Amino acid sequence: MSKQFDVLVIGGGPGGYVAAIRAAQLGLKVACVESQSYADPKGEVRLGGTCLNVGCIPSKALLQSSEYFDQANHSFVMHGIGFDNVKMDVTTMMRRKDNIVTQLTAGIKSLFKKNKVTLLVGYGKFVPLPERILTSAGGPTFEAQGNFPGAGQGSDLWQVEVSTANGSEIVEAKQVIIATGSKPRHLPGIPVDNKMVCDNVGALSLDGVPKRLGVIGAGVIGLELGSVWKRLGAEVTLLEALSDFLAAADQAVANEAWKVFTRKQGLDIQLGVKIGKVSVGKKTVNIEYEAGDESFTLECDKLIVSVGRLPNTDGLGCDGVGLKLDERGCIAVDGHCRTNLENVWAVGDVVPGPMLAHKGMEEGVMVAELIAGQAGHVDYNTVPWVIYTHPEIAWVGRTEQQLKHDGVDYRVGQIPFIANGRALGQGDTTGFVKMLADAKTDRILGVHIIGNNASELIAEAVVAMEFGAASEDIARICHAHPTLSEVMHEAALAIDKRPLHF
Ligand code: FAD
Ligand code: NAI
Repeated sequence: MSKQFDVLVIGGGPGGYVAAIRAAQLGLKVACVESQSYADPKGEVRLGGTCLNVGCIPSKALLQSSEYFDQANHSFVMHGIGFDNVKMDVTTMMRRKDNIVTQLTAGIKSLFKKNKVTLLVGYGKFVPLPERILTSAGGPTFEAQGNFPGAGQGSDLWQVEVSTANGSEIVEAKQVIIATGSKPRHLPGIPVDNKMVCDNVGALSLDGVPKRLGVIGAGVIGLELGSVWKRLGAEVTLLEALSDFLAAADQAVANEAWKVFTRKQGLDIQLGVKIGKVSVGKKTVNIEYEAGDESFTLECDKLIVSVGRLPNTDGLGCDGVGLKLDERGCIAVDGHCRTNLENVWAVGDVVPGPMLAHKGMEEGVMVAELIAGQAGHVDYNTVPWVIYTHPEIAWVGRTEQQLKHDGVDYRVGQIPFIANGRALGQGDTTGFVKMLADAKTDRILGVHIIGNNASELIAEAVVAMEFGAASEDIARICHAHPTLSEVMHEAALAIDKRPLHF
């Protein structure tokens, strides 16, 4: 007899493992299927998906190490701290990063044990439905069928085949949550070997600092990983197709970031580029590209391709059960992550919306709570964005250009860090906090930060917006002195043209 569960989660990344833990907390019998995409040196499966293995966590570890190196080289001197010879040992930096990954991925396994989530190692694939159900009016849903007869077994359970190299088993579940994440988008004619031409996987594990690093795509990965290797001494050139830099960010933030990244930090960012032929040799990569009316060739020692990610439904067996995808290949869901199939849900990078770990985790919690009969909910308007460059960039809500486009009457408060005592003490005064509020109601519509610790500061704005706060609410809250958060306070005061320290 097959193993049976109340909930089967396919994929053990942030969307999947959080959904599994929350469902188990709510008293449901839960299993999580995770393929061996990520394994430790002994070949044991690693949970945590892209985020913990080859995404958020390793990239932030390298960003921190490279930032310390950069500070030791350039910033400590202003504090009177000097070194004769600052060296970076890339092997140690990578080992530290790998240890963090090991610690956190093992931690998820312990959380599974603690919460009694069964881990099923293998590749999950829906067992196809009989043709008569797939083609029946209304499609393959419980609603259409009355009592859904599984894969023709006369039960109301979904069947999923879990396969490994050693064989496969079929497990059954009342509810299935798909959390199969995303994979890097590659470009035609530019094969990624993760040695000379890397996606995120190779770019996080280079064994030395390339003298010349090329990056196709000046988005989030390009900027974060480009910064890592630039700080360690590489000449970094980013080739970006769009003519606008950081088009999703508020224009003022994007302008400031452009100034800092290109002029102060020396990142060479080429906009409006059309990539042509890419030739990979033993030691160099040549990228032919056009910008304006001119043609160029960039020669580099390593190339990173970071041109976005694609939802991953490979081998899931969507067709066999009639699971609908949208035009971008994402699993189509409603506002509560329900797919077109009864009792089948999907969360995280595999569904539309920003590909962010925290968004996937919130969806995982929502779905688990809905399954348990609770009122799960995600407020997509208050999902924060953070880019972990230096200075960091963080925002929540709408940008000024979006408000203009939507014809909203708004007021702006913008305060630079230069006037803040804590920022001066830290020797890091780049950037500002910009708050946007409705001109009539004063409700906060967006907050945009570029500066040190923006990733932490944005939390206050998220809470405020979640509670429907007005800028006046922030203006009347006592902020500790001296902290960077006082700049948020001043930005709120500035909306009413009454900043106290600027
Ligand atoms: P994933 O993390 O991709 O996990 C999906 C899991 O499903 C994988 O473990 C995969 O092996 C498994 N799987 C797939 N198909 C099957 C199957 N059929 N059967 C069994 N298992 C299967 N986001 C942030 O919020 N902050 C950051 O700082 C950040 N930094 C990033 C840096 C980089 C370099 C990258 C690449 C991404 C970063 N992201 C960041 C994005 C973040 O990693 C993703 O949004 C997040 O991992 C998505 O979670 P997920 O659970 O939807 O999918
Ligand atoms: P991205 O969407 O952030 O940036 C891709 C960039 O490549 C865009 O600017 C795009 O215009 C450009 N591009 C696309 N095709 C191109 C081409 N042919 N030639 C030149 N440029 C081209 O995607 P990225 O950086 O790959 O990251 C993927 C996703 O991972 C992000 O969207 C984000 O969801 C997630 N992520 C989040 C992080 C965070 O939260 N701090 C960090 C890293 C990744």
